[in-house]
Amino acid sequence: MIDVYCFSGAGHSAEVAAYCAERLGGRVISIGADTVCRGERALIVFPVYCENLPPPVAGFLRRAEAGYAALIATYGGMSYGRALYDAQQLFPGSVIAGAYVPTEHSLARDGWRFDGAPLAPLLAKISEGGAEIMLPKTPKHILSDFAPAWRSRIAAKLVRGGNCVGCNACGATCPMGAMRQGRANSACIRCLKCVRVCPRHALCVHLSPVLSYYLRRRRCNDTVVYLN
Ligand SMILES: Cc1cc2nc3c(=O)[nH]c(=O)nc-3n(C[C@H](O)[C@H](O)[C@H](O)COP(=O)(O)O)c2cc1C
Repeated sequence: MIDVYCFSGAGHSAEVAAYCAERLGGRVISIGADTVCRGERALIVFPVYCENLPPPVAGFLRRAEAGYAALIATYGGMSYGRALYDAQQLFPGSVIAGAYVPTEHSLARDGWRFDGAPLAPLLAKISEGGAEIMLPKTPKHILSDFAPAWRSRIAAKLVRGGNCVGCNACGATCPMGAMRQGRANSACIRCLKCVRVCPRHALCVHLSPVLSYYLRRRRCNDTVVYLN
């Protein structure tokens, strides 16, 4: 059985992980603060945030114990920087395949549908095994390393509606320990898990005019697969 490890804020990477697990006959394991990637092989699915790895994914990759892995980075059709390259640098085992997969942009909600068909060769590779590959150091924006979480926080405000009853479902699910009863502190990375789990739909995101303008047009819908 192949374990499919997944970090997902708004659910798009979770959709990709579920698709892959179904085809591989594997199970999805959600990446939490203490999750360790074990076993001979693994598929790891995560989103690109501000052309970077979400911090919980970086920690997970660093402490991995699996022999080899395939990596899938989902992105919202804008830019993916060199997230797969960065992930390979952190993963202590061998990486045998990688892919950038476009999904709906979780901040723009642009309605783009995930298409799993281009992932068929990668899924075959992780089933069969194979030699290590070097994922390319694709270009990234000159500012992408500049305080990505801070940039997300100023460009996307988390707004708590009057129907919040303080149940703290958001706090229980926050991967950064940043939420308490609908209020986020400065550790928030705007992954939007809290928005997804709130039973009263009391949380929403307001985008700055600059980010709204930037997100208005998708730039890229390509699935890019790296294999030997
Ligand atoms: C804080 C944040 C930053 C993002 N940054 C980028 C980005 O730099 N480039 C891009 O194409 N998409 C970006 N996205 C969109 C996500 O990468 C994309 O929607 C992804 O599939 C979300 O996966 P998830 O729902 O599993 O979290 C960003 C989304 C969020 C919430």
